[in-house]
Amino acid sequence: IVVSGGANVETESSAGALLRSKAKLPAPFTLPFRVPPVLRPARSDGDTDHYEITQRAAQVEILPGLRTEVWGYNGIFPGPTIVSRRGRRTVVRHRNELPVPVVVHLHGGRTPPESDGYPTDLVKASGGTKEYAYPLDQPAATLWYHDHRMDFTGPQVYRGLAGLHLHHDDEEEALPLPRGDRDVPLMITDRAFDEDGSFSYPSVDPSLQGKPGVTGDFMSGVLGDCVLVNGVPWPVMEVTAARYRFRVLNASNARRYLLALDPPPPDGAAFTQIGSDQGLLAAPVGHDELQIAQAERFDVIVDFSRYPIGTQVTLRNKLGKDGTGDVMRFIVARRGSDDSRIPDRLADIRPLSRSDAVAEREFTFERGGAEHDGVTLWTVNGTPFSPDTIAATPRLGTVELWKLRAQNVPHPIHIHLAPFQVLDPGPYAGGWKDTVDLRSGDQAEVLVKFDGYRGKYVFHCHNLEHEDMMMMANFDVR
Ligand code: C2O
Ligand code: CU
Repeated sequence: IVVSGGANVETESSAGALLRSKAKLPAPFTLPFRVPPVLRPARSDGDTDHYEITQRAAQVEILPGLRTEVWGYNGIFPGPTIVSRRGRRTVVRHRNELPVPVVVHLHGGRTPPESDGYPTDLVKASGGTKEYAYPLDQPAATLWYHDHRMDFTGPQVYRGLAGLHLHHDDEEEALPLPRGDRDVPLMITDRAFDEDGSFSYPSVDPSLQGKPGVTGDFMSGVLGDCVLVNGVPWPVMEVTAARYRFRVLNASNARRYLLALDPPPPDGAAFTQIGSDQGLLAAPVGHDELQIAQAERFDVIVDFSRYPIGTQVTLRNKLGKDGTGDVMRFIVARRGSDDSRIPDRLADIRPLSRSDAVAEREFTFERGGAEHDGVTLWTVNGTPFSPDTIAATPRLGTVELWKLRAQNVPHPIHIHLAPFQVLDPGPYAGGWKDTVDLRSGDQAEVLVKFDGYRGKYVFHCHNLEHEDMMMMANFDVR
């Protein structure tokens, strides 16, 4: 097994291998928080907003005084945020100036197959272009876009190919939720850095490309020792003593988080969840902690008016230790007016029931069933990913019951195109979801709604190293 990168490695729980940075990391809560810039359309006509994005390498300052090469949408990490509204189509023309092929997937988007970013539907290296058309006929939600190239999603996302896409609609806009600069995305990732400031990832050596198995033990997942929010290590944000809406996205390759506020507010829940992956919940849910797996989104309200002015409120990760136990800090800096509210009813969600399902299928996610060069692959029902094998053929317009099971270690499972409801969702998996976190040995029963488009799509584990090591399968909506 070839491992390049040479970072100091140690294993952190069952989630993967922890890489220790060799570069000097900043002290937590010293760098200013920022949000990624919102992308302006290149032009708008009739019912469509047209965007242009160039994927390119760029040198950016992530660690003070050092340069990090990122592969970024428009050369930045995270990429620019796209903002859309139901009723208008978004078309994004991507130009790929990177030395490798890329694929773009809008995670959570209900997208026709030709624009969904199928893992082999490549935009060629060094000058290839592709236009992705997104109808976005779906409720307001926090979506995100990221690379999806077969076998290389992990390294390409790690290098920076991820951005937010915030989708709105009239129903959401009519609610008195915090807005403007009190509606804030938090894209959480972890990274490790080499001495010179470059991202360290064990399989980015281009000579290894095309060879499955190169990630060695890292195939369990790559964890960094530095937590970044919107691309900034452990940032600090000044807030008004008011309600904020945070759209929390875990865009990490392999790390899960259990988020909590320190100190907790003197009364009430730390976080009031108003939305999940696919949009608003029917009604708000209070949480003292947020358990968030890779690719999941939690739309939450935090009310800082419960803290005295001057309080430092740290967002901690209770699953991490040392640096990875910290995420970011808020300083309650000033008083301010606040006319926002959290309504008791947020969205109309018709709960699906078992009897809605016209078919039942079972998928087990485990390590085993197939090998490549002596390396045991991650598989779905014992089968490694192949573009030619169809695991399910649901009919358009129907609901199916899928039983998803995780063996050995946890797996966050993501289904493209089709939103689902989790039966017996527990505190964290209510509403419409597109990713469900399975603990080891867990089985989740999900009711999946196949609407919108026919064609071939993937579902897979969103631990990106597991995904690259074949834990993915196809369904073909007929
Ligand atoms: Cu977020 Cu198939 O991916
Ligand atoms: Cu997995």
